Amino acid sequence: MHDFSSDRRQFLLNAGLAVGSISALGGLAFARRRAEAPPALLPSGRVRNFSDLSLTLTAAAGTANILPGNPTNVWRYSGALTEGHAYQCQPIAGSYLGPIIRTARGRRVRVRFQNNLPEESIVHWHGLDIPADQDGHPSYQVDAGGHYDYDFTVNNRAGMYWFHPHTHMKTASQVVKGLAGLFIVTDPEEQKADLPYGDYELPLVIQDRAFDENNQVSYTFGPLVGYLGNTVLINGQTNFSKSCKTRIYRLRILNGSNARTYKLAWSDGSPIVVIGTDGGLVESPISRPYVMLSPGERLDVWADFSAKSVGSSVTLRSLAWTPGGFGGGGSPPNGAVMDLAVFNITAPSTEYLSLPPCLCTLERLSIAQAANAASPRTFPITYYLNGGTPNWLLNGATYDLNTTVPNENVPRNTVELWQVTNTASQVMPHPIHFHGRQFQIYQRIGPTSGSALTNYNNVKDGYVDDGWKDTFFIMPGETVKFLVRTSDYPGLYLYHCHILEHEDMSMMRNFRVLP
Ligand code: C2O
Ligand code: CU
Ligand code: CU
Repeated sequence: MHDFSSDRRQFLLNAGLAVGSISALGGLAFARRRAEAPPALLPSGRVRNFSDLSLTLTAAAGTANILPGNPTNVWRYSGALTEGHAYQCQPIAGSYLGPIIRTARGRRVRVRFQNNLPEESIVHWHGLDIPADQDGHPSYQVDAGGHYDYDFTVNNRAGMYWFHPHTHMKTASQVVKGLAGLFIVTDPEEQKADLPYGDYELPLVIQDRAFDENNQVSYTFGPLVGYLGNTVLINGQTNFSKSCKTRIYRLRILNGSNARTYKLAWSDGSPIVVIGTDGGLVESPISRPYVMLSPGERLDVWADFSAKSVGSSVTLRSLAWTPGGFGGGGSPPNGAVMDLAVFNITAPSTEYLSLPPCLCTLERLSIAQAANAASPRTFPITYYLNGGTPNWLLNGATYDLNTTVPNENVPRNTVELWQVTNTASQVMPHPIHFHGRQFQIYQRIGPTSGSALTNYNNVKDGYVDDGWKDTFFIMPGETVKFLVRTSDYPGLYLYHCHILEHEDMSMMRNFRVLP
């Protein structure tokens, strides 16, 4: 049933009769439809036309008022358009994070990255399918005062991607200072799904930080677990709360933290309804008691406040989970309970949207397409001591700027089965990310006994593996197999752990798409 009639509203009215067929999604009244018609004229927030985009993205030092008292020194991206509509490059209100860049599939994007930082940097477009020289590989980083010109066409589906520095050995420290922004792509398929937009589409960038007594970000971390702060920032703000109406919101969530993974859940016990992942919409809404979101991953969430009463509130929080292995420590540790964002229901609203039972049609990669189905390309995670300092490795080697080993040379435009194993004797959870690609999780093989199994069982229902992904979470004892169609752009791309301290310390490698 992934075939939309030309009149989706009529289709949904009809589908509403078949409530039984979708009750498996968790008992929400998915097909609920109220009598109110949609507004005859769409509010001005609706944007269907995107032009090619040209902008200067400047990175520079600045300050932000994050805590009461002293301002905090930050590094920030700011955007200045030279071509395109103003709504295609807008800051997040009240945030020191980078602008939200909005564009449509098929559009050309030109960005001059102007580096006004006191040190070298480069911008990576996380999740985009673009040529290697556009991807922000550290070999392209520019010195203080320099610039880099990007010029690419957006091939990706509608979805929320993001950008951040990828400077050699300095990605983590530059992101922690504030360099990150959202890159949101739309396409006709998404527009057809008629999702909440404008004031009802909320970007939520989750990050954790620690501050010193002068309100400055303190950046100290354990090499094993990475940087874990005690203060949650949403879009760069502490104690985030949002006034909402009794209606449906679309939450577009990025875990932009360096090292902290969240087990997202609603405080009122309602399921989290996921409509999209890293690479855009999933075919049908997915209802889960909680959802795991590790650094680098995104979620598109349908948040239905229409049955709430004015004066009530609901909190998006992170539930307890246990990393296991060497993943403990930090204050608070990864897996600690944290409140993230409060939604205060302050005004009534009549709602005309209802959750579409079918959101889009997904191309499915099948194992039969994979030339190497019997012998997946394997990238193990291992641990090693580098002169007394513990380190994590991917594919058995530290990072080298320009080289690959044989299993990192991949044919272009070819479907293959790849796997990452986290089954060495010393382990912890990691978010694993491959550049320039969206892929599909084929299979997870979890641990089978002991505390690893107990810890796994406490997170596994929160994996949302049904859509396109560019980053996945892997627990101790776990193997993740995924199907990827390799890029059609030859060249050197990165893959790494998205715990940014791990990435900078060595848990990163190149893979080369062969000509
Ligand atoms: Cu957000 Cu190299 O990645
Ligand atoms: Cu990336
Ligand atoms: Cu890691």
